Amino acid sequence: MEDILILAIESSCDETAASVVRNGREVLSNVISSQIELHTIYGGVVPEIASRKHIEKINQVIEEALKEASVTLKDITAIAVTYGPGLVGALLVGVSAAKAISFATGIPLVGVHHIEGHISANYIENKDLEPPFVCLVASGGHSHLIVVKDYGEYEIIGRTRDDAAGEAFDKVARAIGLGYPGGPKIDKLSKEGNPDAIPFPRAKVAENEYDFSFSGLKSAVLNYLNGCQMKGETICEADVAASFQKAVIDVLVEHSIHAVKECGYDKFAIAGGVASNSSLRAALEEACAKENISFYHPSPIFCTDNAAMIGVAGYYEYIKGVRSGYDLNAVPNLKLGER
Ligand code: KG4
Ligand code: ZN
Repeated sequence: MEDILILAIESSCDETAASVVRNGREVLSNVISSQIELHTIYGGVVPEIASRKHIEKINQVIEEALKEASVTLKDITAIAVTYGPGLVGALLVGVSAAKAISFATGIPLVGVHHIEGHISANYIENKDLEPPFVCLVASGGHSHLIVVKDYGEYEIIGRTRDDAAGEAFDKVARAIGLGYPGGPKIDKLSKEGNPDAIPFPRAKVAENEYDFSFSGLKSAVLNYLNGCQMKGETICEADVAASFQKAVIDVLVEHSIHAVKECGYDKFAIAGGVASNSSLRAALEEACAKENISFYHPSPIFCTDNAAMIGVAGYYEYIKGVRSGYDLNAVPNLKLGER
């Protein structure tokens, strides 16, 4: 059988990325141009700046991805591109580039859902992983518990009622003066702190046992910091970071294990930027081992935004026969499983 080579493009937030993926699971190149430094001075992603930077970088990143994979456009079977959810101006840059290449060369186009990409990152290094399984997707914009019934077939069984897990990390990091992006910085600082120092709340959502809520926790951290300041007490940032992180992890682990057991599966995967958190990975590793659940996770580079994951998801959509037209548009609030 002839190889299927996917050229994948991702530009939904602040990384301009392109990748070439062979037969769904083999990453030939994974080029990521991060804008993090640019946004750090503003304390978060500025959408207008993100779009402009994507425009400057996109062609170069695509060329690099082809070069690194030692292929040309003539070898490419299909072009996969993230068309939602994300920042509309940022998404449009990738979608326009993909459409232009497809139009000029006749290579088929496949629009990919960003979260489907995150989930699919698990297939890269876990060659034996096949659906069905339960996946926790925790990123800057999402905290979802998803049943992956088959390739491209998803059921969301839990979601956040307010802030996403990554968003909470970013906001708490800003409050304790760590800057953007907060996740990796809290992860690092937590190693020097006591996770049991401050009893931050573990929120339960009454109506759905799989749903998450992180805004109460975020407020509790802010209140704690204000309280210390008013009383003139010194704040131990490492203890705040570690205690906050433990509160997030406890809830993510408890809901995840509960979901896997209730759904009757024995496989569990994690995805999204927060999935690269070292303490979360250790906690899930331990909890899954105790329950005889096989635990899957991508390497950190495939957890945060990248195009290889879009190439993997694009491959499975492509072999199912999914094709997008030149009317493919950026959809900022695209729902998982919708076309
Ligand atoms: O998946 P991602 O790169 O972009 C979105 O689709 O949102 O996730 C970015 C989020 C940010 O909120 C960032 O703070 C968080 O993932 N993150 C982490 C870690 N690395 C990135 N959160 C906790 N621990 C980390 N090590
Ligand atoms: Zn993402």
